[in-house]
Parts: sequence; C-alpha cells; structure tokens
Amino acid sequence: MTSNTKQQPLFTPVRMGNLELRNRIVMAPLTRMRANNPGHAPTELHADYYAQRASAGLIIGECTEVSPDAYGWADTPGIWSREQVREWRVVTDAVHRKGGLMYAQLWHTGAMSHPDFFGEELPMSASDVNPEQESVTPSGRKPTVAPRSMCKADICQTVVDFGNAAKNAMNAGFDGVQIQANYLYLIAQFLNSATNRRSDEYGGSTENRARLLFEITEAVLRHVEPDRVGIKIGPMHLSGPFAANADTLPDLEYVTGRLNSYGLAHLLLMGATTDFAGSPLEHLAGDGMYRHFRPLYNGHIIANVEMTQERGNSLIEEGLADSIAFGRPYIANPDLRERFLAYAPLNEVDWPTVYASGQNGYIDYPTLEMLTAGANR
Ligand SMILES: Cc1cc2nc3c(=O)[nH]c(=O)nc-3n(C[C@H](O)[C@H](O)[C@H](O)COP(=O)(O)O)c2cc1C
Repeated sequence: MTSNTKQQPLFTPVRMGNLELRNRIVMAPLTRMRANNPGHAPTELHADYYAQRASAGLIIGECTEVSPDAYGWADTPGIWSREQVREWRVVTDAVHRKGGLMYAQLWHTGAMSHPDFFGEELPMSASDVNPEQESVTPSGRKPTVAPRSMCKADICQTVVDFGNAAKNAMNAGFDGVQIQANYLYLIAQFLNSATNRRSDEYGGSTENRARLLFEITEAVLRHVEPDRVGIKIGPMHLSGPFAANADTLPDLEYVTGRLNSYGLAHLLLMGATTDFAGSPLEHLAGDGMYRHFRPLYNGHIIANVEMTQERGNSLIEEGLADSIAFGRPYIANPDLRERFLAYAPLNEVDWPTVYASGQNGYIDYPTLEMLTAGANR
C-alpha cells in the first residue's frame, strides 16, 4: 500500500450493505449496446469488459430489462430468460475471479420504448403522455410516441417481473441489484406528475405516484435481502414533460425519506446532468444535491455526475457521500482505480464507439501499465 492509498478517502474500505468494498470507487451503470443477439443476452465481450474494470470497489452493471414488455433500447441485455441468466453468470464469474463485486441494474423503459419493439403495439406507461424524447430502436433513433396507459393487471405483472428479475440476478451470481428509478424510465414516468395523469391509487398525490416504486422495491425484497438492494434516483431537469416542475423535489424528498425504513444497501443519488438555473432545482446544483439530501437519508449514499478524483475525495471527507460513482471516466479507463492511485492522466472517451457494436472502443482502451510498457519499449 503506497502513502497515496492512505491519504485518499476514495481508497479507504467501506461497508455497503453486506459487502465490504475495497475502495469507494464505484463504476456507474453504463449502457453500451453490445448485446446484439436475438436473445438479448450478454456475451463474452461483456465478461472481458467488466473484468477489466474489476478493481472498482463495486461495479453497477448496465441497465438490464426485467421482461420483454420492459424492453426499449436496441442491443441492451435483459435478465428474464434462462439464457440471459446463464450468460450473466459468465460475466459475474469473470468479475469475481478478478476480486471484483458487481450489482445488476433492473430496468423498465416504459414510454421510452417504441412500437418497433412490439410488432407495432404501443409501449406502456402510467398514462398516454408522450415523453417527447428519442427512443433508440433497432433501426436508429426515433421520436417517442404516446404510450398506452397501464391497467392494473399490467402494473401487477410489472411488479412481479421486477421480483423475478431480482431473483434471476442473484442466480446469475450478482452481488446485489440496483433498481433503476430515475431518468426518463417507467418508475420515473409514474413518479412525474407531468407524465402520470392517473386518477386511481397510482396517480394524483406524491404517495400514489410513488406507489409503483415501493411496490417494485418490496417485490425485489421478497427475493433479495435489503442489504443487497440499492436504488438509483435523482431529481432531473430535462426536456418536455421531464423538465423539473414544482413536484419534482418534494417527490424525491418523500421517496428518500420513505426509503430510510427499508434498510437498503445504497442510494445512488445523481447530481445535476443539466443546468438547473431558473428551475425549481436551482439550489441543488453542484454539491448542493448532497448537502440537501445527506441529512434526509440515513444509509450509504453514492454520489455521481461529473465527479473527479478531487471532488470525490472531498465529498467523502466532508461526510456528504460514502462512495463515488464514475460513469464516463470508466468508459475509457478500465484501470480508473490505478490511475487515481497514481494521480495519472485519464484516457479520453472515443464517443463514436460508445453506442456501437463489437470490441472497438469497448475492451481496447489501454491501461496505464500498457501505456508505460509501450513508452519504455
Ligand atoms: C454512455 C452512457 C450510458 C449510460 N447508461 C446508463 C445506464 O444503463 N443506467 C443508468 O442508470 N445510467 C446510465 N448512464 C448514466 C451514468 O450511470 C451516470 O449517472 C452519468 O454518466 C453521470 O456520471 P458521470 O458524470 O461520471 O459520467 C449512462 C451514461 C452514459 C454516458
């Protein structure tokens, strides 16, 4: 252990639920569109890619659909079939052989999906409100459509699907599961008063709009111990119906407060991904997000969005976060931990190969060791 290891809070071990993380550097979930096969299963490329990144304290795997109904982004992997579970097992074994730990991220795209995925049938959501975004279909990006409003049976099935997917993830060897509850996807579509116009017990009040989130959480907890379950949330200010409104912050405060009673392993709290100026989230810009939410949540907080080594170290030191998730830096730096340890420069992301296929820009980013060996040759 070098003296750098001792000095940097990012390198101090930390408990997260039932896991003892070797460091506080978390790989954020990153969709990479490499599951281009009819069974929507991960491949050997996934195993190589994640194993390369196993020195993170924890890897959160990419968004993974819980059912065929949840599907809605081309070439992403699912976790509902036997084949998918078998292939995910190859991935988790590869990560574990390198001493790493990995969670699966459970996902339902809802209205972000597209009729192209369902033989021209509409995708489903809380209400028939077009999220006014782009859907990533097998034949490219297309404008989203107004979805069909889910009936009670659809909701019950979706809750069951999340539970089954969580069970599958544990059978596939994951160390835990994270519920994807933010951005523009199904759980957020229910939570958001602009996309949820329901008049039943799933719409109207904050408590009603959050009902699906908690029913899903409880379904997951029927199969996985709470100390192996995390959740990703964060108030967003995006375009169309996903522009922050007067409910956005109170909704998230309510969700955060109620999550305290579940004793989950973590809350991955996303910071601002857009300019909050002039929106009801203005005071949450920068570290304001963590200053606001830290007192509201009594468990492990993973801070995320535009984190640097310095910012991560200081957020942990200040007690505003317990660990730090890095997304884009992990695309190009499989050895992010080693680079932080050495205060080394980072590789740049090659954007055209981020959402692409094959190994280019996926498993061929050089480590510091490879670069040093090359330079000394
Ligand atoms: C290429 C790419 C793919 C992403 N895929 C996912 C995903 O599958 N699930 C998710 O919750 N967030 C996803 N995100 C968001 C990241 O997890 C992370 O929250 C975001 O990039 C902010 O962290 P960063 O500033 O360190 O990149 C993705 C981001 C990028 C850039």
